[in-house]
Amino acid sequence: MAKDQLIIFDTTLRDGEQSPGASMTRDEKVRIAKVLERLRVDVIEAGFAVASPGDFEAVKAVASAIKDSTVCSLSRALDRDIEIAAEAIAPAPRRRIHTFIATSPIHMKHKLKLEPEQVIEQAVYAVKKARQYTDDVEFSAEDAGRSDIDFLARVFEAVIDAGATTCNFPDTVGYNLPFQIEDTIRTLLTKIPNSDKAIFSVHCHNDLGLAVANSLAAVRAGCRQIECTINGLGERAGNTSLEEVVMAVKTRADIVDVETHIDTQHIVPASRLVSSVTGFPVQPNKAIVGANAFAHESGIHQDGVLKHRETYEIMRAEDVGWNTNKMVLGKHSGRAAFKSRLDELGIILADDHALNDAFARFKDLADRKHEIFDEDLQALMNAQKMEAESARYDLADLSVTSKMGVAPTAHLKLRVDGSEIDASAQGDGPVDAVYKAIESVAKSGSDLQLYSVNAITTGTDSQGEVTVRLEKSGRIVNGLGADTDIVVASAKAYLHALNLIEKPLEKQHPQKSEGI
Ligand code: KIV
Ligand code: ZN
Repeated sequence: MAKDQLIIFDTTLRDGEQSPGASMTRDEKVRIAKVLERLRVDVIEAGFAVASPGDFEAVKAVASAIKDSTVCSLSRALDRDIEIAAEAIAPAPRRRIHTFIATSPIHMKHKLKLEPEQVIEQAVYAVKKARQYTDDVEFSAEDAGRSDIDFLARVFEAVIDAGATTCNFPDTVGYNLPFQIEDTIRTLLTKIPNSDKAIFSVHCHNDLGLAVANSLAAVRAGCRQIECTINGLGERAGNTSLEEVVMAVKTRADIVDVETHIDTQHIVPASRLVSSVTGFPVQPNKAIVGANAFAHESGIHQDGVLKHRETYEIMRAEDVGWNTNKMVLGKHSGRAAFKSRLDELGIILADDHALNDAFARFKDLADRKHEIFDEDLQALMNAQKMEAESARYDLADLSVTSKMGVAPTAHLKLRVDGSEIDASAQGDGPVDAVYKAIESVAKSGSDLQLYSVNAITTGTDSQGEVTVRLEKSGRIVNGLGADTDIVVASAKAYLHALNLIEKPLEKQHPQKSEGI
């Protein structure tokens, strides 16, 4: 018997962007959207168009670039939000407006200051308004996971009558347990007389580490759309991870009644891209996309896998894109191979000049590093992009002396607004010395919240990718730097973060919008 289709609604570019410091530029969003389209995601939530002019432009740019997936913008249940969302998604051949209002007692009373009947009225009004612009309208009952089930049933019934084609159940604060969400969805589908007129959807947050389990439980109860993000990126502990639900559905096709359109071979490249754009590294033991997800350390496991792979493996690494991702380029690779690999990674260069520059950087790296992997290319392109942005600070030179038992000293030359400035400092370690030297010039007043180093590929000649998170006056940015020398990578990441924190905001953090 044919299986039901499970709609994969990706919100990396909207909810994912709400992670601290994960703000993406318009061009970055377009790059990620193209990779999501290649992954054959059904719906791409490109942003929250009304949040700021930058958000509007980013949603519009995604809507103009995407042909196969539906492009969606979030909007509160307010006239202006819906009008702006409609305008932003207009260029897309398939478009959806996603409007929401909170339905839990705590949100209605303290945040919205509305009576339940007023909430129903506003929800119905918003859906009818959104239907004037598109036939594809999703309604979300924010904080559904803590809402009264009878009230929720009334809200969903009313919005379906008003024209909502998708009804979404967000567990906004990640409070539900799998068996509970399964019962709730089952009850809702039975209670709501017109539930067969809309697709029911689930949107889970991972505060208790249950987002994927909750989403699958909701599907078991009858939901036919899951909202998720690449790498599980999202508010606080994140959202349902796309790669985990998709591979659970595929791997356990024997007991799951649904199937997805996702072309799973593009999962790992998508994960890499999102990680490098946002500066959120993927933990090595992360399911599906972590560096160790398919690595067998124990001798017994290795022996078993060599004898018969299925003894210890339930999925094939190549099915999620690990092998396709291992394509190696080297110093003898030509421009055509280089360009074709960039195309496959969804990296689009503006013109021949940008390609020449990228190719020269590639050759330079190939002189220092024997094999160049996809991750190296992505880091290379990030560096090129960062330099192309008009940056205030740039690293001209760096040396560090370090000897056991003696405090290391860093000497560096910075280019600040085009002029070169020398600085030196001692520190508790080489990186600390470098950061003190940079701060002796920048005096940024920012607070270092995170410093992490990841080997981009394997081997001692691997590039180190450093992420630095800085906070200043409530604004958080993630700086990235990559180099075969991790002290240089650390300096680059710190300077990138400084450049970002001094840049005027292109987009407002979506959560800063009133009433959200
Ligand atoms: O978590 C949430 O409630 C949301 C909605 C706006 C769908 O992100
Ligand atoms: Zn959410």
